[in-house]
Amino acid sequence: MTSVALTINGEDAIADVEPRMHLADFIRETQNLTGTHLGCEHGVCGACTVLVDGVPVRSCITYAVSCTNAVVTTIEGLDNDEIAKELRSAFSREHALQCGYCTPGMLISARDLVLRAADADERAIRVGMSGNLCRCTGYLGIIRAVQSVIAERRRRGVAPLPGAGRKTLGPAGASSKASASPVASAQGGRPIADTASISARTESLADWKPQSTFEQSFAVHQPLEAVWNFFGQLAEVAACLPGASLTGESQGNTVIGKMRVKVGPIAAEFHGTAEITRNDATHSGSISGSGRDQRSTSATRGIVNYRLMAADDGATKVTLTVGYRLTGPLAQFSRSDLMQDIAGRLVTTFAQNVEARLRGDPAPAQASELRAGTLFFAALARTIKMRISRLFGR
Ligand code: FES
Ligand code: FES
Repeated sequence: MTSVALTINGEDAIADVEPRMHLADFIRETQNLTGTHLGCEHGVCGACTVLVDGVPVRSCITYAVSCTNAVVTTIEGLDNDEIAKELRSAFSREHALQCGYCTPGMLISARDLVLRAADADERAIRVGMSGNLCRCTGYLGIIRAVQSVIAERRRRGVAPLPGAGRKTLGPAGASSKASASPVASAQGGRPIADTASISARTESLADWKPQSTFEQSFAVHQPLEAVWNFFGQLAEVAACLPGASLTGESQGNTVIGKMRVKVGPIAAEFHGTAEITRNDATHSGSISGSGRDQRSTSATRGIVNYRLMAADDGATKVTLTVGYRLTGPLAQFSRSDLMQDIAGRLVTTFAQNVEARLRGDPAPAQASELRAGTLFFAALARTIKMRISRLFGR
């Protein structure tokens, strides 16, 4: 069994499945979303069409495991979608369905066409919808319905989005950024397949279980209040973390940022949001957030609880409890002992940078990325050495 975690209609969908399970079965059987229909099960009829990162995909020939971290939208997720609403009423008006079996797939394909078609040209619509078969042969009504929605939208001045907003070539889901704008705009402001905003959003962590947790502590040789105030300056704190930076205005207690990480040949740039809480009375706080790398599809979610305490020598002791989950290609490096070792070294650099800033030293040039490769291999070597010592009693 393989663990698959993705987002369906804005909700996390996680299940252990056979690697051979296709996305349609994953949607229907593990999530009970039966609006996605199965006809031919070999990619011909289009009944199983869903959106993966905003792109129509035949879910019967898409492995669920290949969609890890993807943002999937099924017909149920288009309940409040502006174009889908217009299409549903046009389908009713034009008698574009009989048994309705093909209709969910038809609507999803038609919605994509409505987004990008320049005008309501009948031949272009026939070609555009040719990947969806209706065994009740209600094609005339379907064409009329799609035609009327395109014509009406263009009449209202709604411009087509060339390529439905997709800007890069590649398999469905290869360009999740491209999917964001058309879907969000068609939702009337409610993004349903905006990869960046959904997968990187900060959610309630109440029902979220980290894959691994560990503790770290370090000392900053500065008074407690000075360190506490410094921790409240998010841009300053981010500048002390190799590879980290803020990328947008903070909104309330939510910040937007990115972190560049390089492990061996894998380079990732995690974009995401984090929610920050601070308790002045106890000098403690938390940072919880999630992020995703668009290229490698690695994703992470984590929470850091921290507490500051005055030490006897006038320094400040900072204790961190870190919980995290890492998925995608970088997950192979997520073993907790290795991560703990890497985090320990990262934290040492962070502490040195914080001290330097608080002393008023010239700001150290910030590393443009966290080169975890060297940390990783040093940590791995240390772990192997410890295990050999244990094995031979030395
Ligand atoms: S069921 Fe997927 S294309 Fe027919
Ligand atoms: S309406 Fe029956 S298959 Fe299309």
